[in-house]
Amino acid sequence: MDKSAFFKLTYGLYIITTKYEDHFAGCVVNTVVQATAEERPKILVTVNKENNTNEVMKKSKKVNISVLSKEADMLLIGKFGFRSSKDFNKLNGTDHIIGNNGIPIITKSTSAYIEANIINEIDCGTHTVFILEATDSKTISDAPVLTYDYYHNVIKGKTPPKASSFAE
Ligand SMILES: Cc1cc2nc3c(=O)[nH]c(=O)nc-3n(C[C@H](O)[C@H](O)[C@H](O)COP(=O)(O)O)c2cc1C
Repeated sequence: MDKSAFFKLTYGLYIITTKYEDHFAGCVVNTVVQATAEERPKILVTVNKENNTNEVMKKSKKVNISVLSKEADMLLIGKFGFRSSKDFNKLNGTDHIIGNNGIPIITKSTSAYIEANIINEIDCGTHTVFILEATDSKTISDAPVLTYDYYHNVIKGKTPPKASSFAE
């Protein structure tokens, strides 16, 4: 198989956030896809089972999605994409609001956000595919959105092994 074919797939970049009891977790993902366009659209997101965010999402059944803009820098992406929420609160020092569902939403370098309930999950080997139903959403900035391609080719960012699209 020619794995370079997979590099032709395109994505955006997002920070997903969740909370169960007093524990907050959140991480960078590129795997957010709108699946349906009904009154409450369904969305898919794929999260590595070793990420703390996966564990907390399974308990919380709620998750919010911040659509990152091109203003996102490596400090933000490094914090949410390369560190674990297990013993570190990534919210400290990061602009955020609390959503209508009680879950924090990252507003730093964010073009729009979506609040969602987790309505199903599918085992996908190393990852879990979560099926979400949107409960609220808002556009908060006109800044252009950050794409995976821009992250790699302009920001020169790296992708850690737990991402869905990592390749050595
Ligand atoms: C550009 C980029 C894309 C990523 N995409 C995903 C993804 O789609 N799914 C995933 O589970 N992790 C992805 N990650 C990795 C997680 O953000 C990373 O493992 C994070 O440290 C997990 O934090 P947590 O343990 O607090 O959940 C990505 C990271 C980066 C930098």
